[in-house]
Amino acid sequence: MTVKYDDRDAIAHGKITEKPLRERPGYPTWAVKLTMAITGLIFAGFVVVHMVGNLKIFLPDHDGRPAIDEYGEFFRTVGEPVMPYGSVLWILRIILLVGIILHIWGAFTIVGRAHQSRGKFRRTNKMGGLQSFATQTMIVTGIVLLAFIIFHLLDLTIGVQPAASSAFEHGEVYANVVATFSRPAVAIFYIIAQLCLFLHLTHGMWVAVSDLGIVGKRWRAVLSFIAYLVPAIVLIGNVLIPVAVLAGWIS
Ligand code: HEM
Repeated sequence: MTVKYDDRDAIAHGKITEKPLRERPGYPTWAVKLTMAITGLIFAGFVVVHMVGNLKIFLPDHDGRPAIDEYGEFFRTVGEPVMPYGSVLWILRIILLVGIILHIWGAFTIVGRAHQSRGKFRRTNKMGGLQSFATQTMIVTGIVLLAFIIFHLLDLTIGVQPAASSAFEHGEVYANVVATFSRPAVAIFYIIAQLCLFLHLTHGMWVAVSDLGIVGKRWRAVLSFIAYLVPAIVLIGNVLIPVAVLAGWIS
């Protein structure tokens, strides 16, 4: 942790401060950032796979059942008979849950330390452009995403009204998605959440490249491009679904 506000003032006025200039934090900042980078990348991997799975809503029925319903069933039965029904899914859920808790703890730890260290001095050397906007809105987009995930689980996984539609039935993934997006306010909320996901993911991936210590010029250029490409693909793939329901392309 760097110099605190009081100490900085003292130093600026030529005073000698007896306080230590650096306090040793419980967890070093690099370890917190590394935790955020790893948990963030796990989530990035999840949203990419989830988006590809969601696009199965556009595939024709298979054996008289919507392809996306079979896909949902696959996640509940994968690992059988070696593993009990639903156990692989629960392992994945626990990984995601632990990941999100660590990620949120990391975010508040880093932001708290940055404020403490900067004191009254504001940051001025901003990058400008989209990355700068994404940087400044990380906490806001993160909070919207957390609210979205809670709503989304109540809506399409657990099926609790009013988040879920009155037509919700467990296992009927296709029908549940169509029913939920037939409510324009819900569809718009999903679209806004996907825009927040784009901003959060693009900056998160961009910063993870640095936090994982990738400093080579060529690698940084490639990975910085990927940090725009992957979130853009996730955005387009996911937004397509509520738009398709609202436009009546799928029903
Ligand atoms: C338009 C975009 C999205 C659609 C259409 C969608 C659709 C779905 C559906 C249908 C399920 C339930 C699957 C089942 O019960 O078999 C589900 C579960 C889930 N979704 Fe999404 N999703 C979207 C975006 C997202 C995003 C952006 C995230 C994360 C930030 C996310 C996180 C999850 C999680 C954590 C589950 C629970 C998986 C489980 O525990 O069973 N989803 N989603």
